[in-house]
This record gives sequence, C-alpha cells and structure tokens, in this order.
Amino acid sequence: MNIQKVIDDVYRFSVNIEDKDYLFEGLWPIPNGISINGYLIKGDKNVIIDLTQDIFNFPREITHQIEESQITIEKIDIIIMNHMEPDHSGWLREFCKKNSKAVIYCSKKAVPLLQAFSSVPPERAVAISDGMVLTVGDYELQFFDTPNIHWPETMMTYERKRKILFSCDAFGSYGRVDENAIFDDQIDGEKHQFFEQESLRYYANIVATFSSFVLKGLEKLKGFDVEVICPSHGIIWRENPAEIIDHYKRYAEYSKGPAELEVAVVWSSMYGNTKQVLNLVIETLCKRDIPVHVFQVPGDEIGYILGSAWKSAGLIFGMPTYEYKMFPPMAHTIEELMVKKVTNKKVFRFGSFGWAGGAQKDFEARTMRSGWDILGHYEWQGTPKESDKATIQRLLEAYCDTLIAFTRQASKK
Ligand SMILES: Cc1cc2nc3c(=O)[nH]c(=O)nc-3n(C[C@H](O)[C@H](O)[C@H](O)COP(=O)(O)O)c2cc1C
Ligand SMILES: [Fe+2]
Ligand SMILES: [Fe+2]
Repeated sequence: MNIQKVIDDVYRFSVNIEDKDYLFEGLWPIPNGISINGYLIKGDKNVIIDLTQDIFNFPREITHQIEESQITIEKIDIIIMNHMEPDHSGWLREFCKKNSKAVIYCSKKAVPLLQAFSSVPPERAVAISDGMVLTVGDYELQFFDTPNIHWPETMMTYERKRKILFSCDAFGSYGRVDENAIFDDQIDGEKHQFFEQESLRYYANIVATFSSFVLKGLEKLKGFDVEVICPSHGIIWRENPAEIIDHYKRYAEYSKGPAELEVAVVWSSMYGNTKQVLNLVIETLCKRDIPVHVFQVPGDEIGYILGSAWKSAGLIFGMPTYEYKMFPPMAHTIEELMVKKVTNKKVFRFGSFGWAGGAQKDFEARTMRSGWDILGHYEWQGTPKESDKATIQRLLEAYCDTLIAFTRQASKK
C-alpha cells in the first residue's frame, strides 16, 4: 500500500489485516479484514497521529509509506497518541528507540500507559488538557478527552482550520480498505452497505459496552464543525461525515430504547428435540414480516451474534437443559451478551428437557439484570408434540404483537 494524501499536507498511512484466521482483540473473527490507519502532517515540524500494531510486517510497511513522503522516522517531531490500545500503540516502543526526540502528546490517563505498554518514560510525554490547542505551522490541533471510546484514556484530535476530526476508534469499522478507495466518495452503494454492516459488527464487538460514553462524545462533537472524519479503522469520511456519525448515534441509542424490528434467533440442540420447533419459530416471525437472523451455538461466531443482537429489538433463545442448567455454550453466549450490555430487548425462550428441566431457571437467573423483558417461554419433555407446537405458535403470536408495538412506539418518538 502507498501513503495517500488526505488534504494539503495531511497524509494517511495504513495497513490491512488480511489473515483470515486472525482474531481481532484475540477474540473477534474478521473474515473481511480490518484496516489500521494513522496520519502524518508534514511541515517544518512533522506530526504523526496514531501509529500501528507491531504484528506481521506492519511497522516496516508503515516506515516505507512514511518514507514515500520524503520523511524518515527520525524526522518526526511530534507523536499524538489518541489511544494506547496496542493496535495503535504497538509500534511505539521500537519507534521511540529509533527516534529519541519526538514529543508524545496524549491524555493524562495515557501517561502511565505509555510506560506500561511501551516503556516510554513520562518525561517524553505532554499530558493534554481538554480543549488544549497545539499550533504546528499552519495546523491548529485541538485535543479533547473522549473517555471510554474506547479505553478510559482515549482522546480525539481536531484540526481546526480544515475541520478534520482524527477520531481513532470512534467512527471506525471492520473491513479491509482498498488503496484506491479510501474515501466515502470513492466507493459505490454496495460498498457503503458493506461498511455499514462492518461498522455495526465492529461497534457491537468493540464499543457497545461504552454506549453511554459514545452518546456523551456525540454531544461534545455537536460543538464542532466536522468536515472530514479520519478514523483509525475504515474509510475516511469527507463527502458526508454525517453518514457515519448517524450510524454511530443509532447504534449507541439501541442501548437506550427499541432497536430495529428484527429478531435474532439463537439456538442449540444436542439431539434435535429443541431444533424441531425452529422452523415454526422462523415461519411465525416471517409471516408477520419480521426479519429473522438465525444463529446456532456452538458454531456461529459470537462476533456475528452480537452484531445482530445489538441491532434487533427482539431476541429468541432455544436451548435444552443440560445437567440442571442451560446448555453450556448458550450460557457462554448469554454471558457475552451481558458483558456487552445488550439491553432493552423483548425476549422469548423455548427448549426441551429430559426429566425435571432447569434451563429456564438458569436462564432467568443469568439474565436477571439484563434489562430484557422476557415475554414468554415454553418447555416440553423430550420430542415436541403437536400440542406443544400449537402452544409455542400461540405464545409467539402474542410475542410478535408486543414486539411490533414496542418498535412502533419508538419510531413515533
Ligand atoms: C449431558 C446431558 C445432560 C442433561 N441434563 C439434563 C438435566 O439436568 N435435566 C433435564 O431435565 N434433562 C437433562 N438432559 C436431557 C435433555 O435436556 C433432553 O434430552 C432434551 O430433549 C435435549 O434436547 P435436544 O435434543 O434439543 O438437545 C440432559 C441431556 C444430556 C445429553
Ligand atoms: Fe481500541
Ligand atoms: Fe483500534
């Protein structure tokens, strides 16, 4: 990949994680890849905003890209670290060995992390205060704290003259970025949809837990006229930055009220007895024109389940009893949904048991503090009878009525 000009003396350097087996954060599958971007502002003093991860040949690759702009690593005067997560700071340790003079601007909370993650002594850091402006040549760089988007120390950098927001993880997305299509105006409608889906999954996997902070951050942003958004993952938004801001607002607001009129159905079955009602569940929802997304556990990836569950106002779980509790892989999935604060959902559960059950009690205990409204459940012994299916259908009809009313009430607001 080559270094790319963003505007004037602002350049983007970037790498894509292409390895299909790589798990982002050691956890999330990214079959479509992810880009890690940083930015260079050339001038009498050279500035870098965010670095890259120290994996594969990324530092070498970025060094080449920076050198394409006739600058060497030793000539960088200022490094702005918006965020200390290793996907952006991993290279800092080696970078600072090669360049012993660059001053590092970061938030107050990032200073001890510089030492802990990259062995950078605090003397090399300038801790910013919220709203502080650093003038470098013709560039006015303003810093503001945006805690917990994504870590507590995260900040953003805003270039006041050109109205560029260097947002780091915020407004980011999964998905590799092609070298010849790095801006929102260089991609077609299909690719926009691709990045919308990839940004939703990225949000649900990485950012969702901190949605209240995202809403606070968006409030703070209202005071800024933003013409270009340069995130550290995904494409640059210069034609219509409002598009990605609106997506993020919508994703964050799913944590407060009804999400979309869609249902994520997550099911498990050891011997097929629970599975026998799955089609009935799907058909009942489809007849009511409710989009359904079906996931099997284990098998389907939690990263995808989370993306769908975050966006759906309804969740339906099907799983049998296993040793007096719910089937363990489903317990793990539900635990993950709790960690990511998937909340405000209309929920239904079904499943088979052998003798005395236990899954429902376990399910209720585990989801007690979820903010889920469990509208109904149905369990049966062994194989489902026609009467069991009829009851499930009746309960699901009522479930759909409530779900539809719930989402309608939101769209009226
Ligand atoms: C390893 C194992 C543990 C089980 N533990 C329980 C249990 O504690 N209580 C119960 O009522 N049934 C228990 N069952 C019975 C299953 O819940 C029952 O076979 C059910 O029909 C399985 O549904 P499935 O075909 O959808 O997997 C257990 C079954 C297995 C294989
Ligand atoms: Fe991060
Ligand atoms: Fe990141």
